[in-house]
Amino acid sequence: MKKNIAVYPGTFDPITNGHIDLIKRSLGIFDEVIIALAPNPKKIPLFTPDERLGMIKTATKGLQNVKIDIFNGLLVDYAKKKKANAIIRGLRAVSDFEYEFQMALMNRRLDNKIETVFLMPSEEYSYLTSSIIKEIAAFKGSVNGLVPKIVAKKLNKKFE
Ligand code: COA
Repeated sequence: MKKNIAVYPGTFDPITNGHIDLIKRSLGIFDEVIIALAPNPKKIPLFTPDERLGMIKTATKGLQNVKIDIFNGLLVDYAKKKKANAIIRGLRAVSDFEYEFQMALMNRRLDNKIETVFLMPSEEYSYLTSSIIKEIAAFKGSVNGLVPKIVAKKLNKKFE
């Protein structure tokens, strides 16, 4: 039988508990979830791709049917290569909608066979972004409970 594979793309700079929440929810729907680290030319990341991949790996240890990868180029081309039939994106607030709607429709135009599936994270994570986490950590605020332990450790080290 055909496997239902989803790609969960993002910059993950760094991965947060909101992302983990979405990954767990996706695993309830799909046979396999590929967490795909994407270069986003609009962002200047704090962590290198290797650091980000390492944190994702540690934070998702114990979760079955999860793969971690990095890609260049168009997301739909990557999804096709991986035989994925869906792209997972999180919708946290109305403010996410416009950008996500635009991306989903453009991706559909590029490849009509790949659907974008929107999932809502648990409300306790609905205000989280990677940028806000980095800002709190930079000013020595506590990010405990908002990011995996490995991420909190790496952030503390970066801003030592
Ligand atoms: N919990 C917490 N934070 C979340 C979240 C969740 N569930 N879901 C999203 N976010 C945050 C992210 O941390 C990120 O925060 P930041 O802006 O402070 O870094 C922000 O919301 C959204 O960014 P992210 O999910 O990383 O996506 P992105 O917008 O950086 O990346 C890509 C978008 C990678 C999917 C897109 O650029 C892409 O597809 N690139 C490949 C090239 C391509 O195909 N382009 C054409 C697209 S139509």
